[in-house]
Amino acid sequence: MKIVIPGGTGQVGTILDRALTAAGHDVVVLTRRPVRDREVRWDGATLGPWAAEIDGSDIVINLAGRSVNCRYTAANLRAMMDSRVHSTQVVGAAIAAAARPPRVWLQMSTATVYSHRFDAPNDEATGVLGGAEPGVPGYWAYSVEIAQAWERAQERAETPNTRKVALRAAMVMSPDRGGVLDALLRMARLGLGGPIAGGAQYVSWIHDRDFVRAVEFLAGRDDLAGPVNLAAPGPLPQRTFMRVLRAAWGVPVGLPATKWMAELGAFVLRSDTELLLKSRRVVPRRLLEAGFTFDHAQWPEAAEDLVRRVRGGPRVTR
Ligand SMILES: NC(=O)c1ccc[n+]([C@@H]2O[C@H](COP(=O)([O-])OP(=O)(O)OC[C@H]3O[C@@H](n4cnc5c(N)ncnc54)[C@H](OP(=O)(O)O)[C@@H]3O)[C@@H](O)[C@H]2O)c1
Repeated sequence: MKIVIPGGTGQVGTILDRALTAAGHDVVVLTRRPVRDREVRWDGATLGPWAAEIDGSDIVINLAGRSVNCRYTAANLRAMMDSRVHSTQVVGAAIAAAARPPRVWLQMSTATVYSHRFDAPNDEATGVLGGAEPGVPGYWAYSVEIAQAWERAQERAETPNTRKVALRAAMVMSPDRGGVLDALLRMARLGLGGPIAGGAQYVSWIHDRDFVRAVEFLAGRDDLAGPVNLAAPGPLPQRTFMRVLRAAWGVPVGLPATKWMAELGAFVLRSDTELLLKSRRVVPRRLLEAGFTFDHAQWPEAAEDLVRRVRGGPRVTR
């Protein structure tokens, strides 16, 4: 199949490109700075010659969006919003204009769309969308607004011959350099992988190979459309999540960090504490009901597997 991945040069795109190319598909990546074979230039905002790649393709998986790993300044939040909404709108326009549109458009969204909560997991049917939680910084609502605007941009696209799925993905854990797991392991090795602000906040995650399998599953299931959670069925509190990761790596201690230490650390790393402090308790109801089985459903086994792969061989750097 021909698979087009707008924004496919980042962490998630690298995982998908590698797996789908290895499976024998013809993968084309849309990027603002093409350097490799099968990378095509676009600007993420306006139609151009790149749209010809979508015409006649089988699957489009749009991942484009300014990284959320940054300080949440007004300018960065605006860029996070615009890059997602505009790229989704223009992908929709390219699909709408195609003489031979793809049969499915998988659009990245995020598990962050759900509320910050501890009491129960969020699934697609009963989950609570975020934005109105008491006692959290007001600007957290903006991440939810971004996620909702992102999904709305796909919903509103008029692509009658193309099935649309929104991927509400949790953190994708892969052994690659520069990915989320890499950053967490670096913290753990420095002895800093302890509970943050008590560590009761939930971490939702998905193993990279299950992420790829779930994408392939959704691409092949003509009966599934709309938002789908891509998260392992076993989210767990941050303090347990990090304890398990430290054990898998063999780091005995992880210093606890208070909220203000997290603030300071996030400032130094040019990141934002929402990524550390928001409780993301998300479960994959629709995938499980559709018959998808996770190869790595629980974190202890998944962490062992990932650590083995980190240690086991050369890692991809982009
Ligand atoms: N990583 C995760 O665990 C995770 C979990 C849930 C959701 N997501 C979402 O999934 C998407 C991909 O994640 P990722 O970790 O692979 O992100 P990433 O490494 O930051 O890559 C995102 C890609 O988007 C493109 N991009 C950035 N700013 C853009 C702009 N202004 N206009 C057009 N394209 C732009 C970049 O491509 P070029 O610079 O090559 O153009 C970049 O390669 C993101 O939208 C992210 O929010 C990620």
